[in-house]
Amino acid sequence: MSEHPNLTLVDHPLVRHKLGILRDKDTPSKLFRELVDEIISIMVYELTRDLEEEEIGVETPLEPMVGRRLKGKKPVIVPVLRAGLGMVDGVLRVMPSARIGHIGMARDEVSLQPGEYYFKVPRHLDQRPVLVVDPMLATGGSATAAIAGLERRGADPTRIRFACLVAAPEGVRALGRAHPEVRVFAAALDRGLDENGYIRPGLGDAGDRLFGPRTERRPSGGGTAGNARRAGGHACVDRQPLIARPLSLSGTSGAPSKALG
Ligand code: PRP
Ligand code: URA
Repeated sequence: MSEHPNLTLVDHPLVRHKLGILRDKDTPSKLFRELVDEIISIMVYELTRDLEEEEIGVETPLEPMVGRRLKGKKPVIVPVLRAGLGMVDGVLRVMPSARIGHIGMARDEVSLQPGEYYFKVPRHLDQRPVLVVDPMLATGGSATAAIAGLERRGADPTRIRFACLVAAPEGVRALGRAHPEVRVFAAALDRGLDENGYIRPGLGDAGDRLFGPRTERRPSGGGTAGNARRAGGHACVDRQPLIARPLSLSGTSGAPSKALG
């Protein structure tokens, strides 16, 4: 059996070509955003291959026939903020009537634990295929916590798909242990994590490369130089919570997040 039974690699020359440019440290944000969008648009065919269908009657200009259409309630795309937002349009282009949910998840740079700061998903989640998107699967903490939150809100684990661009073996294994029914789709499986929890060779900090570096770290939160180094030259510092109320922390080990505290 494969080492990663939960993983499907979307291994395609166009994906490899675009990923090579995406990883380049000199690729500017505009091109980076376009490439993320293009890669997920290609991946979406693989991700949606097993959507349920049903037969319908169709009248062509010449005769009646039996056609097919997607069965049941509309799928929902759930980006894990921030970086997952960069993958939404590419999916919507192919599935324009999909619903959209949002999960805000920020990984603490020291503990690497995910902290949840936002969670809004469409109704009837239990009846929908759910496509969670986030460019990076590193330790797997953010994906595991996001999927646990979806399951608590009724999502059927067998109908959840997780799509990322770059995965680390550690993250694929962690997600497989926590949510064995959830299929993971990646454009690349990299070597592994470094001591700061970054994927190597990776592409640095996906959120910063898509949307720009976060606000400066507060004085008590540690220095910025190390963070910039970790992300491969892209300043990588903490962010303020998006909502002014106590944050609920989720994840596998739930250590409080200094960055969010
Ligand atoms: C990144 C990435 C994932 C997470 C992966 O987000 O987009 O959500 O880290 O790491 P993990 O698998 O170890 O949890 P980050 O928390 O840096 O937030 P951002 O998208 O706002 O930059
Ligand atoms: N998050 C990122 O954006 N990049 C990594 O390499 C790991 C986590």
